[in-house]
Amino acid sequence: MGKITISTLDKMKASGEKFVCITAYDATFSRIIGEVGAETILVGDSLGMVLQGHDSTIPVTIGDMAYHTRCVCRGNPQSLVIADLPFMSYTTANQAMESATQLMQAGAHMVKMEGGTWLSDTISKLVERGIPVCAHLGLTPQSVNAFGGFKVQGRTPKEAKSILADAVEIQDAGARLLVLECIPSHLAADISRKLDIPVIGIGAGPDTDGQVLVMHDLLGLTQHTARFVQNFMAGQGSISDGLRAFVDAVKSGAYPTEAHTYS
Ligand code: KIV
Repeated sequence: MGKITISTLDKMKASGEKFVCITAYDATFSRIIGEVGAETILVGDSLGMVLQGHDSTIPVTIGDMAYHTRCVCRGNPQSLVIADLPFMSYTTANQAMESATQLMQAGAHMVKMEGGTWLSDTISKLVERGIPVCAHLGLTPQSVNAFGGFKVQGRTPKEAKSILADAVEIQDAGARLLVLECIPSHLAADISRKLDIPVIGIGAGPDTDGQVLVMHDLLGLTQHTARFVQNFMAGQGSISDGLRAFVDAVKSGAYPTEAHTYS
């Protein structure tokens, strides 16, 4: 696998080839994820839950994210590395610029932020200054308290309309990638079809351009998992084989199935 860039993902979307993203937080897993053929790595603020033991991503700081981004980037020269801007690190365009600078200087190739229309101006300013942006819509975990829990989003026609409008607006603002989390599969399919930019799904059905899972979930290490999670370690002899099984299942269309989706 050569060096993956956002243009690689654009071409994969155009040709209908599915791409894979796995979260990583350190150099060793980052290397293995590259070796098993995942095109992208997400240094997710999920590290607050799976590494730090918090019950949400809210306590994660920009310092935590920069540290783990540096570790991940040292381990893997070929995958596209996306790093999460953590809670309250992008409340204004200027603050987002400073926070994103830390992650890009730590080695990230793109930053991810949760939110829709209200982020348009911030996204345009980052993009204008050469920082590629991945947006995140649907169940945005930094808003867990506002949602009243980790709940599926976009089930009512009003919510679905608003998520679709947000997706179009963030694309128009210059976002290059979009994560859709825990929304009905028909809505994710519709958004993926309508947008030119690649869309990565998690609990969003089979029709997005790529799939992402939190590494600890797909390796069967998490105690309570959502409907969309599959334990890819089942029947495998090594962690590399488990990660490769996820990559192969996404590429062949074997994951996700109907059993992993919301309606
Ligand atoms: O932080 C994270 O791992 C994420 C994924 C759940 C998409 O944002």
